[in-house]
Amino acid sequence: MARMISRAATVAFLALSSAPSLAQPDVKQDSARPWLNPALSAEQRATAAVAAMTVDEKLRLIFGFSDQAVTEVSKVPDEIVPPGIKAAVIARAVKGSAGFVPGVPRLGIPDQTQTDASIGVRNSLIPSTALPSSLATAATFDPEVPRAGGAMIGAEARATGHNTMLSGGVNLAREPRNGRNFEYVGEDPLLAGTMAGALIDGIQSNHIVSTVKHYAINDQETQRTSLDVTISAEAMRQSDLLAFEIAIEKGRPGSVMCSYNLINGRWGCENDYLLNTVLKGDWGYKGFVMSDWGAVHSTADAANDGLDQFTGFCCISDRPWFAPRVVKAALQSGAVPLSRIDDMAERILWALFDKGAIDNPVRNSPIDYDAHAQIAQSAAEQSLVLLKNDGDLLPLKGVKSLAVIGGHADQGVMAGGGSSDVTPVGGAIMIDQHTFLPSPPFEALKRELPHSRVVFAAGNDVAAAAALAAASDTAIVFVTQHDSEGYDGTLTLAGNQDALVSAVARANPKTIVVVESGGAVFMPWLAEVPAVLEAFYPGIRGGNAIARILTGKVDPSGRLPISFPASDGQLAHPALPGLGQPNDTPAAITYDEGAAIGYKWYDLKGYRPLFSFGHGLSYTRFALSDLAARTSERSVGVGFAVRNVGKRTGKDVAQIYVAPVDWKAVGWEAPKRLGAFVKANLRPGQFKRLEATIDPRLLATYEAAGDRWHIRSGDYRLLLDDGTGTTPQQVTVHLEDAVWPSAHAAQAPAAP
Ligand code: BGC
Repeated sequence: MARMISRAATVAFLALSSAPSLAQPDVKQDSARPWLNPALSAEQRATAAVAAMTVDEKLRLIFGFSDQAVTEVSKVPDEIVPPGIKAAVIARAVKGSAGFVPGVPRLGIPDQTQTDASIGVRNSLIPSTALPSSLATAATFDPEVPRAGGAMIGAEARATGHNTMLSGGVNLAREPRNGRNFEYVGEDPLLAGTMAGALIDGIQSNHIVSTVKHYAINDQETQRTSLDVTISAEAMRQSDLLAFEIAIEKGRPGSVMCSYNLINGRWGCENDYLLNTVLKGDWGYKGFVMSDWGAVHSTADAANDGLDQFTGFCCISDRPWFAPRVVKAALQSGAVPLSRIDDMAERILWALFDKGAIDNPVRNSPIDYDAHAQIAQSAAEQSLVLLKNDGDLLPLKGVKSLAVIGGHADQGVMAGGGSSDVTPVGGAIMIDQHTFLPSPPFEALKRELPHSRVVFAAGNDVAAAAALAAASDTAIVFVTQHDSEGYDGTLTLAGNQDALVSAVARANPKTIVVVESGGAVFMPWLAEVPAVLEAFYPGIRGGNAIARILTGKVDPSGRLPISFPASDGQLAHPALPGLGQPNDTPAAITYDEGAAIGYKWYDLKGYRPLFSFGHGLSYTRFALSDLAARTSERSVGVGFAVRNVGKRTGKDVAQIYVAPVDWKAVGWEAPKRLGAFVKANLRPGQFKRLEATIDPRLLATYEAAGDRWHIRSGDYRLLLDDGTGTTPQQVTVHLEDAVWPSAHAAQAPAAP
């Protein structure tokens, strides 16, 4: 175990003494520089700025340096990176961040200072506040939570000199073992798109750019840089791409990050269909496409197929596909037209103007870490999912002695690994090369239960842990599952954790399991324990949130954003292609399950997962009633009522699923889809009437021939459920046949 950096718990981050002063424009109305006039539209400003730029200046905007390149740029030959650009990188890049693109000070165009990622600012030299994992935040089923979290981490990005965040992961959890599922927002396109869109919107409320990623179908980490994914246009438009489409509509991100993998034989960052036809064509996207770090394989193909910025140029040995000299040669040979370079520069500038990054230059400033940690704690308190609570064992009541066992719960809570890992105030705790955030649930439980004897056992010695449990009123076993960018996990808990839970449960029937995991895990001991709380990776105040839920200070209100399968045999692809091979070994997978991801797959196959999407219990009880629906052209509106029939205040998550009476006849991928969701806070006895509208695309199938959405005439059941075991409601509507083009310009605005 080692402390990485050590600082006082609540210091305010002030400009690091070594931090460069950022080259920023002096924004004022200037008739000679119309692009600096805020009264003009972002389009007008971007066009005017590009018209004033030399070719060299345009090329500067499309070539970005990774942190390693920032450190080593002086070693890169001058013919790859000209001396003027090297000097700008050395003088102005924010050290320790993800990336840097020098601006054009002559024209008042700022540097692009890029930082990861969705749970907070990732900079190895600067402390920041870690939200719960994105998957945890998705479990809130409340877009206001990621919006508030995004506003907070975006403020920290701005205060640490970053005007671009690489935040907004929205790849669907098609592969439950994907090592990055914790960075994403679940298995359903509506939930994922809504939550990622809200995060991006919150971040960009700070007048900085955010990024939706990784576009697209980057659904496993194994061989992520060489995997060729085969999938039909119909399936992607109804699943992974629909999540991106909704996130882009709701969040309006300035940039889209294309992914490392190949899709139908073409690299993500040189994929004409995904980038030109769908993103910039059908969806009318005005921002820019940046590559995932180094995910570029050509100059002319990438440029012509839609890549706007080669980001993450690394080292001397990297092939510098968008380096100024290389692109100039492509221009001279006619392989890339100048109009394409202009379009790239315009898109990048549009994003910076539209989000306000040029009019509101970022400046180093103090951060109120305590206030920000409170936002992270509130997010965690709304995201934890109570999976099981037999006999209402939770919340803890009248416990005289409590055994807290395992999971390093005396030191902190687990965090995911890779580029989303943030350095918390006070430093991260490294245990077996896994990051833990310094918010120990054991200490928080002691604080919340001042009259109980609370004792910790590490759990390495199973017999000793069982003996402690036997001598205590109640036992809580913490189990952890590490996930990280770069590789996929297994759903089986590591080490002796399954045996530990069983042994403790045998010793004490009042055993509660708290799971800290990136995503789904198997629970071979589920029948042996009365209560299970899924805490995901709960962020910088995760320990406090766990203790407050367990002790009933807060009612659990999270719902699963992913299903928990019962076994590998239930997965669409029990074997991961390329697993165990050296990185970059060519590998391939055909997603023949199409859009039937997660609960849709289990429904289709008639499998019973351990826990299904949308499940989650509360300490209070709810009743659903009065479900009614009205249809108009292409749209369905629903109204219903929720009553708190229990004794405590709690939040319910109403989920409206659409289930065609004959789902095969209308061409659906599975028996039902989530059509809408609404979260509501209710006091005991309180009754609320709620409404929701179902997006027409969730009623339709996508038809590649004709590039259109199609609702097929038929009877569709609407099911109202809340995941708590309450009696669901049902109503049937008849929908008439309807088709409309998928291109946004040609269709009526999507339903909210
Ligand atoms: C990751 C991206 C990240 C980038 C910069 C890549 O390896 O896939 O998600 O934004 O690195 O750190």
